[in-house]
Amino acid sequence: MRFAFLAAENLSIFDPVSPSGESIRSLAYFVLAVTGVIFLLVEGILLYSVYRFRHGPPKGANEPPQVYGSKPIEIAWTSAPGLVVFVLILVITRTLWEVKVDTAKAPKDSRPLRVTVIGHQWWWEYVYESYDGKKLDFITANELHVPASNFSKADRRRPVFLTLQSADVCHSFWVPRLAGKMDLIPGRTNTLGFETSQTGLYLGQCAEFCGAQHAKMLLRVYVDTPEVFERWLKNQEKPAVDDPKVVKGKKKFFSQSCISCHRVRFQGSTATGTYAPDLTHLMSRETLASGMILNTRDNLRAWIDDPQKVKPGCLMPAFGLSPSELDWIVDYLWTLK
Ligand code: CUA
Repeated sequence: MRFAFLAAENLSIFDPVSPSGESIRSLAYFVLAVTGVIFLLVEGILLYSVYRFRHGPPKGANEPPQVYGSKPIEIAWTSAPGLVVFVLILVITRTLWEVKVDTAKAPKDSRPLRVTVIGHQWWWEYVYESYDGKKLDFITANELHVPASNFSKADRRRPVFLTLQSADVCHSFWVPRLAGKMDLIPGRTNTLGFETSQTGLYLGQCAEFCGAQHAKMLLRVYVDTPEVFERWLKNQEKPAVDDPKVVKGKKKFFSQSCISCHRVRFQGSTATGTYAPDLTHLMSRETLASGMILNTRDNLRAWIDDPQKVKPGCLMPAFGLSPSELDWIVDYLWTLK
């Protein structure tokens, strides 16, 4: 089984590629500096005292002077930490203000992408709502594609606005290099916005414990050039490929209960489930099982054969398919580019 999460992509908040990521990095440096100075001060005095008084008091020495109820000292040790905390509150508030994106209001002349993200145990559903004012109508899973922005011209800016919801328990959307962390809470809608000019693959992780496979609820955000993104968009909007060469596998797939959970979108399709990932363009994705394993033929076959072996506790059961039935179904899915 070839695992995907071994990819050495970095997830560091110290290497941001978006303005809000940069604000968070500055805040992190500032907090580290302040707490670092306090740490050095306290540890320094401690080490000095340990060294200076290492022999203990000389024999017969009296106790040092005992100080009770000293106002100046009490004022000092109350106000100094209070002041430090107050400064941190101010700086954190400013950062919160900087990273907060009003997803209802796109910058003038920009071309926003709007996607609804729905957290499931344990995968991500992406409902593409609109791009550049044009309505979209397709759903994909686990791999979010967005266009890169060009900050230098208003009409080339492409901010990404996410609406965050949950289908079951609390999850949290966190792609450290792109934006801060935002929870997906059942019965509540949160929003998150980001914008970056740097293309590439950005990894993330569900950041709220959500059950047995929480650690394998990985995020993959592909920031494409606008051209590549628009090509990807065109393909996703198309109905599923119907290849007559794999009719056996297609029949088998549609005769199984796969179709009550999964969707394969085309005119008259009976696979209309929304409980599990949309498979219309399954082969356009690089990974399976929410970024856990690479989307290779062998991995796909092993996954369908017994998902519990790959991702114990996931909601897809093994269906006891024979090896040839498995091959047919994989043949069919393999055509869903
Ligand atoms: Cu979803 Cu942790």
